[in-house]
Order: sequence, then C-alpha cells, then structure tokens
Amino acid sequence: RDPKVAAQQANDMRNIVRRKLTGYVGFANLPNQWHRKSVRKGFSFNVMVVGESGLGKSTLVNTLFNTSLYPPKERKQPSLDFSPKTVGIQSISADIEENGVRLRLTVVDTPGFGDFVNNDDSWRPIIENIEQRFDTYLDAENKVNRMNIIDNRIHACVYFIEPTGHALKPLDVEVMRRLHTKVNLIPVIAKSDTLTDDEISAFKHRILADIQFHNIQIFEGPRYEMDDEETIAENNEIMSKVPFAVVGSNTEVQTPEGRKVRGRRYPWGVIEVDNEEHCDFAKLRQMLIRTHMEELKEHTNNFLYENYRSDKLTSMGVAQDPSVFKEVNPAVKQEEERSLHEQKLAKMELEMKMVFQQKVQEKESKLKQSEEELYARHREMKEQLDRQRQELEDKKSRIESGRPAEEKGRKKGGFSLRG
Ligand code: GTP
Repeated sequence: RDPKVAAQQANDMRNIVRRKLTGYVGFANLPNQWHRKSVRKGFSFNVMVVGESGLGKSTLVNTLFNTSLYPPKERKQPSLDFSPKTVGIQSISADIEENGVRLRLTVVDTPGFGDFVNNDDSWRPIIENIEQRFDTYLDAENKVNRMNIIDNRIHACVYFIEPTGHALKPLDVEVMRRLHTKVNLIPVIAKSDTLTDDEISAFKHRILADIQFHNIQIFEGPRYEMDDEETIAENNEIMSKVPFAVVGSNTEVQTPEGRKVRGRRYPWGVIEVDNEEHCDFAKLRQMLIRTHMEELKEHTNNFLYENYRSDKLTSMGVAQDPSVFKEVNPAVKQEEERSLHEQKLAKMELEMKMVFQQKVQEKESKLKQSEEELYARHREMKEQLDRQRQELEDKKSRIESGRPAEEKGRKKGGFSLRG
C-alpha cells in the first residue's frame, strides 16, 4: 500500500469525531432510499439448468417460479441419426412481479445434454455460453458509457443428478469440474420421489464425498461473517440439505385430507412439492429466491467474474494490479497449481530434450573429427606409398637406362685388349 495514502487515512481516522445525535437528521433513511431505488430499478437473475434430458428441468423451473415461464417440451421421437450433435442452448426471459417488486428472470436450458453415445465434449457449448456472457459484460464495462450494463451473466447453475442411488457418473464429474470455476454450482437430485428417504440420505452422502474427492467447488452460501444468529442458523439449515432432493410438479392434486396442493399423485399417496417433509424443493426455492439470490449475484460478480476477467486481461498482456482483492478459492488455486506443475514438467522435458540433443551433437562432432583424422592418416599413408613407388620407379628406370652404355663400354674395351 502507498505509505502516503495510509498516512492520510490514519490522519482522517484520528480526526473523526464520534458523537451521538440528539435530534433527527435523516440518514437513517438511507436503507429506505436504497430499497426504493432498487425496487424502481428492478432485479435480474439468471439461472442455468444443466442435466440429462428428461430429468425434469423444465418442470422444476416452472415449479420454482410458480409460472409457466418455461413450457414443457414435447418428448422427441428417438432419433435414428447417431452422428454427434452439438448441445443446443436455449434462453428464456420473463418479467415477473410480486408485491410491486419486479424480477427479470432468465432461464438458460441445455436440452439433450449427455444424450449422445459420445459425450466427451458435451460440456463445451455450456462453458462457451457462460464465457460468452462474461465477455459481453467485460466489453460493456470497457465501453465509454458504462451506465445501465445489462447483466446476462449466469448467477446460479442448478445441476440435475439422475436419481440412480449409486454415485456421480463420470460425465457428471467431468461437467461439474469444468463448470465450478465459472458458475455457482447447485447440485440437485432430480425426481427424488423415485427414491426412499434412506436411499436419498445415502445418495446425498455419496454425492458429497464424490464432490469433495474430485475437488469440485459447489456454492456454499455466504462467505462473510454473519453476526445475526438467526441468519446463520437459516443458512446452515439450507446448506445441510445440499444436494437438494427435489420433486417438480405444476399440477394441483388433492390430498386424502382434502387439501389442494402442488404435487404428484401415486396409487399409494400424494407427494407434495412444497412440503419440507416430502422433499427439499422448498429449501432450494428459499435459497435461490428468498435468501441467497443477492449472495449468488455478488459471488458471481466479485469472485467468479473477477477471476475470469483478470485471467483474460492477463492473457491479453494487461498487467495485474497487485492491490486488487482476489479471494482464494481452493479449487481455482488447485487448478493454478496443477497448471504450474504441468508447466514445470514441460520445462523439465524441454531441458532434458536440449541436454540430449547437445550430447548427441557432441558425440556426432567427435565421430566426425575421428573420421577426418582417419581420412588424413589414410591419405598420408597413401601419399607415402606413392612416393616410395615413384622412387622405386625412378631407380628402376635409372638402372635400366644405365645398363646398355655399360655394356657398350665393356665391348669396346674388349676389342682394344685383343688388338
Ligand atoms: P428436456 O426438455 O428433454 O431436457 O427434459 P427436462 O429435463 O426439461 O424434463 P421435463 O421437465 O420435460 O420432464 C420430463 C418428464 O419427467 C415429464 O413427464 C415430467 O412430468 C416428469 N417429471 C418432472 N419432474 C418430475 C419429478 O420430480 N418426479 C417424477 N417422477 N417425474 C417428474
């Protein structure tokens, strides 16, 4: 921190006069001003539902917001075309109003997710959609006029788990691992009316163990210290239900006692969606709409988007301001550590390759040198042999050319001796 700024702040603190007012000034009305302004502006909330086809996503969204915002789709005929298709993303918005408070609700659906024989990349369009929303927000923030930015970022992602009663499927783990650093993940057990209470409880434990084992970060409620005991208890109670075992239904049915409730009728009785003894739907709705909507939005803005934004700007070469607050998320930290480790390994591999190449080069140059030496010796010996042969040739020709003269001389002498 800048020491000048720190000194200035310390000075300001010393100059604060603490005084209890005797009369009414009016700033106690500030929260009301804020309230009026917020109500006038309205609220927006974007929720994404992810899960395999037919797990009751549309039904649950309609049940959640008590409106036919999201008409159930017609069941598709089984396709004969087995070629891989992209996941189609559908976004529906609706303005809903309650006691004069307006809420712009957007539901983003991922139909047919996990339907294909090969689901390896089924998470890609979802991640792209989430990132595209972050990019749009980032672009809007960088414009000259930053007033009235429309927030289309995903604030909550309700992840539907098939009620198998066993464990998370590998595809669930894969998709959740890709999603958790980009959205507030809220896992739910779909169609929980198909499981008994004991099965649900065992399934929940298993899901949470899998989530922990795979270091998946799910939404955990407010991170700040809540001083209000009632709020803490409420939050703990909601969080104790994660993953929420939900049942969806938009139709009203009559209970044996004659009450009209939203629920599903079976030959053996009625399951009420709003009854906390029957399922966790009420707790999920309470969390999403009544108690944690602002928290979900804040966490998206202050942490998920902030991380995405700083990573994006850093990758574009913009220097990071060290004073910027960056909350430490264990999952993100682990991801960073993993990528650092991978970078380290890649560097080591490169270094080993370079050392290997260098050694090979050294060996090659040595071999070349000894080859040259051998050639030189060979040449030298050849030249020596050539020289010796030449000398012998010379000698031979000298001997041969000297022999007839000698013989002549010898003949002449012979005659003179006789004469
Ligand atoms: P796609 O649109 O294909 O992605 O399916 P979806 O996940 O939106 O499922 P949808 O809401 O269309 O529901 C599929 C079927 O499941 C319908 O027949 C619903 O009536 C039924 N269903 C929905 N919720 C529940 C539930 O909680 N329990 C049971 N038993 N059935 C449900």
